[in-house]
Amino acid sequence: MDTVLVAGGAGYIGSHTLVELISAGLKVIVIDNLCNGSKVALDQVRLITGQEVRFYHGEVQDRALLNRALMENSVSAVIHFAGLKAVGESSQRPIEYYQNNVTGSLVLLDAMHEAGVKRLVFSSSATVYGSDSPVPYVESLETGNTSNPYGTTKWVVEQVLKDAVYADPELSVALLRYFNPVGAHPSGLIGEDPHGIPNNLLPYIAQVAVGKRAELSVFGDDYPTADGTCERDYLHVVDLAKGHVRALEWLAQNRGAAAFNLGTGNATSVLQIIRAFEEASGVTIPYRIAPRRAGDLPAFWADASKAERMLGWKAELGLAEMMADTWRWQSRNPNGYRSVEQGQGHLAIA
Ligand code: WQD
Repeated sequence: MDTVLVAGGAGYIGSHTLVELISAGLKVIVIDNLCNGSKVALDQVRLITGQEVRFYHGEVQDRALLNRALMENSVSAVIHFAGLKAVGESSQRPIEYYQNNVTGSLVLLDAMHEAGVKRLVFSSSATVYGSDSPVPYVESLETGNTSNPYGTTKWVVEQVLKDAVYADPELSVALLRYFNPVGAHPSGLIGEDPHGIPNNLLPYIAQVAVGKRAELSVFGDDYPTADGTCERDYLHVVDLAKGHVRALEWLAQNRGAAAFNLGTGNATSVLQIIRAFEEASGVTIPYRIAPRRAGDLPAFWADASKAERMLGWKAELGLAEMMADTWRWQSRNPNGYRSVEQGQGHLAIA
């Protein structure tokens, strides 16, 4: 059976992708340093799928560990989620971001090359379109002009991968440009578990809803949008996870590097998100309008037609499911995987 090495598989998107890979009949192994992921997520994946996930604890920059993982398993493809992702923090600690995200990718690519593994799915981001691109973003646009080190690391790794593919015609690489992933597995067993104060909108709202935070700050209501708040293309993490399975199928049939937007093609404002969450949860979210957050763009969303045309992938879940599933995960596990560990979370599918 084909084995997929999932670097960063214990994190938010990684753990949801494990479930979809296993459901598609693939064997998975995980390498993760647990800086942003949890070992408990892997236990929960076992509960959902009934399959044990072989786990290598450590850095993607640890060449010896990578070699061991690749040698002990007949790996045919790699999915690379193992990166740091906090935009604000990346401006404070740029070297750490380049070290983790760029050096980590180089070490992984070199280990793959030595082991003869020719297929890679890379977690990229809509942020590679930079700050001047017209919306909706389409893959044929120029990329670059990123506005923070996090975004630049994604852009740099995309360039590295394009060069690597040019040099090795047997290599095939999918650059998946995520828009704004939200939601959780419908079982309520896995979800997003940010450390500290959440940077992203949905985890923050969810923590306000369970009383962990007093109120949400809405960063700016004077943008040139319908209601003045920023608009984004939010997509359900289960849809996003399925996109990785489709990308692996594409890699098996094709050579070269191709970028795919993974989004719904719809734009939703911050105020619309608050209302949708309130409807799904029945909880009122106290909020106040705060100053704009540095670096936020007014509105962007995906032209997701290439993924539909070439991967046969289309987001199927709407805002209602995104909000209901976020709420199920957060209300059952108010402290994320710590709740699960302490037995406050539901240990079995209800
Ligand atoms: C969404 C909207 C905020 C928090 C970033 C990266 C992207 C990707 C995801 C990561 C914006 C508003 C947010 C809050 C708010 N990277 N907001 N109050 O900024 O679109 O994307 O994270 O892995 O590359 O750029 O996502 O969830 O931070 O913000 O009003 O407390 O919610 O201003 O309009 P963003 P987000």
